[in-house]
Amino acid sequence: MRKLFLTLCVVLSFSLKMKADEGMWIPMLLQNNEKEMQEMGMNITVDDIYSINHSSMKDAIVLFDGGCTGEIVSEKGLLLTNHHCGFDWIQYHSTVEHDYLTNGFWAMSQAEELPCPGISAVMLKKMEDVTDRVLEGVTKETSNDERAEIVTENIKKIKEEAENNSDYQVVIKSFYHGNKYYMIYNEVFKDVRLVGAPPSNIGKFGGDTDNWVWPRHTGDFSIFRIYVSPDGKAADYSEDNVPYKPNYHFSISLKGANEGDFTFVFGYPARTNEYLPAVAVNQEANVIYPISVDLRGKILDIYNKYQEKDPKVRIQYASKHAGLGNGWKKWMGVTEGINNFKGIEKKKQFDKDFTDWALKSRQRGAYINLIKDFGKVYEEYEPYRLATTYLSETALQIEILTFAANFNKLSQVTKETPQEEIDKLIANAKEATKVFFKDYHQPIDEEVAAMVLQEYINNQPADFRPELLNTIVEKYADVQSYVDELFAKTMFTSEENVNKFLDEFKPAKAKKLAKDPALMAYNNVMDFYIDNVRSKTIELGNQIADMQRVFMRGQMEYHAERNPEKMMYPDANFTLRVTYGKIGGFSPKDAVTYKHFTTLDGIMQKENPDIYDYVVTDRLRELYEAKDYGRYADKDGSMHVAFIAGNHTTGGNSGSPILNADGHLLGLNFDRTWEGTMSDLIYDPSICRNISVDIRYVLFIVDKYAGASYLVDEMTIVE
Ligand code: ARG
Ligand code: ASP
Repeated sequence: MRKLFLTLCVVLSFSLKMKADEGMWIPMLLQNNEKEMQEMGMNITVDDIYSINHSSMKDAIVLFDGGCTGEIVSEKGLLLTNHHCGFDWIQYHSTVEHDYLTNGFWAMSQAEELPCPGISAVMLKKMEDVTDRVLEGVTKETSNDERAEIVTENIKKIKEEAENNSDYQVVIKSFYHGNKYYMIYNEVFKDVRLVGAPPSNIGKFGGDTDNWVWPRHTGDFSIFRIYVSPDGKAADYSEDNVPYKPNYHFSISLKGANEGDFTFVFGYPARTNEYLPAVAVNQEANVIYPISVDLRGKILDIYNKYQEKDPKVRIQYASKHAGLGNGWKKWMGVTEGINNFKGIEKKKQFDKDFTDWALKSRQRGAYINLIKDFGKVYEEYEPYRLATTYLSETALQIEILTFAANFNKLSQVTKETPQEEIDKLIANAKEATKVFFKDYHQPIDEEVAAMVLQEYINNQPADFRPELLNTIVEKYADVQSYVDELFAKTMFTSEENVNKFLDEFKPAKAKKLAKDPALMAYNNVMDFYIDNVRSKTIELGNQIADMQRVFMRGQMEYHAERNPEKMMYPDANFTLRVTYGKIGGFSPKDAVTYKHFTTLDGIMQKENPDIYDYVVTDRLRELYEAKDYGRYADKDGSMHVAFIAGNHTTGGNSGSPILNADGHLLGLNFDRTWEGTMSDLIYDPSICRNISVDIRYVLFIVDKYAGASYLVDEMTIVE
């Protein structure tokens, strides 16, 4: 019965009727969803979630470090996010002697918490609709170019005015592909310190092997704390700073994540594209992704080979590997999901229905040729997309090239350049050098360079090949000879040489720097890109954006006629959103069903001391054997680790709180299921699930495993 209902939902979804589970809603407009949320089981009001008149849950949510979400769980600014979101900071503080990645880190007092220079936590204070002001002066007759100018001008004016009247950071963002604009006021915290992280074989258990996959057993959390100036204001790091006292912090539920329960996720989804025409989805899923997947797969093979051989290299390339591997695996899932789901055919059907609908009324004239025109412009766009993809997935994966790029300005210095400016460039270059060599392994880079350059040469047509590639083909016996020469001649492979060069730098040496083969190679591919690819990409991209704005408006009208009582949600754009759905397993394919939760038993089943991703520490095994779970055990007696629910999430939602009907914390969102990674382009409630780590497992690790119970004492626990 459930299956039948779900199948029906899928069919309906393509008449664009929004169903429960799909949607990332703007918190300020959540009144429209309150009835449905309460019918699904929510016990609180949407005013408890978002209010600018009194403290509400939004006061405990931050955009963490520019790409994830974090939530405050104590009166002293304690912040939870994922292990993979704090990963770069854990790695930053790790050395072979203090290997926090491997062994975990626990500050046993506030004095031991570790500052993270450059980190940020951004908290939304309020938002308002400024559409009318942004579009002031735009009429039906305004051309697209004029419109873009007016909008940019207006945004600048409104933003300046708001900034003059406020201490907060102000941003104005486009929603519904340019049909709506909201102004957002943010408080930006910069003193955020690392408080705790489990060892990687808990925080990253299953590693890249299990990434994007259910069943999952990852304790994907890390702990930070926000500090502010003694007068309570967001401030740069200072020893005098004090823990932040938030207006709201989440209570934590130990009642567990039970099948059928209502949940919601509150956080910062980055990007979705749910309203594209078929031709665009096809280009993304069946042209671009497969190329990126292939290239990244080859790079990752090289990383793996060296990482397995040497523990130092394993640490050095951990973050690079996770970054490349994440997109690689996700895109594979997207392509597979869309094709299994017949996503392109369904999108095509919608495009046709939409055009038929447009033909029925004179008012809909702007929509009649849209689909046809999209076909033309995406065809023209494709070679440019490919050129960008090849550049970024090949040449820009050669580490010494992107490192050398840091020296570009220095290479342009002349006798006239003020010494002060030169000193600054040298200081920046020195910092970049330190960061680069901490995590650089030349044999990897050489092997990657030879592989990617060969791919670049083989796969880009003559008119999309930078000069460098032609030189390699014409002047060298093979790619390897070029790479050998490059690595032998550049100074950028030696930290000592680079530092020596910087110490002795004089304007007269700029020319020599500009001739370094790595810097020359970088500039050659980038200049080619700028001269031959970028402007056309921007031009066509703008054209597509203008058409997409019209298409979006059309879809909103189309939808409103069929479903007047429920709005459409805007695509994710790195702004705060609420999504809701129920806890529940699913059936990914014939004869297979997934339960909604995993347990510590599953960790023991996966355990393999010989495979890095599946190592279990003795301590965890002891706790498991003694069944020493304390109050964190489920009522079934086992230790629950992760669970899935039908919340519509995406990248950026990592670390987001998943909350129960009372708004209490049940876990931290960290991933989606493999079968449903296509949800950024097409959402299907029968297979799209978000994955969260159970908060009881988090507390069990903090309290029982690490003995940092003083952190749990800071939290508000609901038993
Ligand atoms: N797939 C998740 C997300 O997109 C988790 C990524 C980090 N984990 C990993 N094993 N690479 O961010
Ligand atoms: N793992 C993702 C993140 O880092 C979440 C997702 O894509 O589902 O935000």
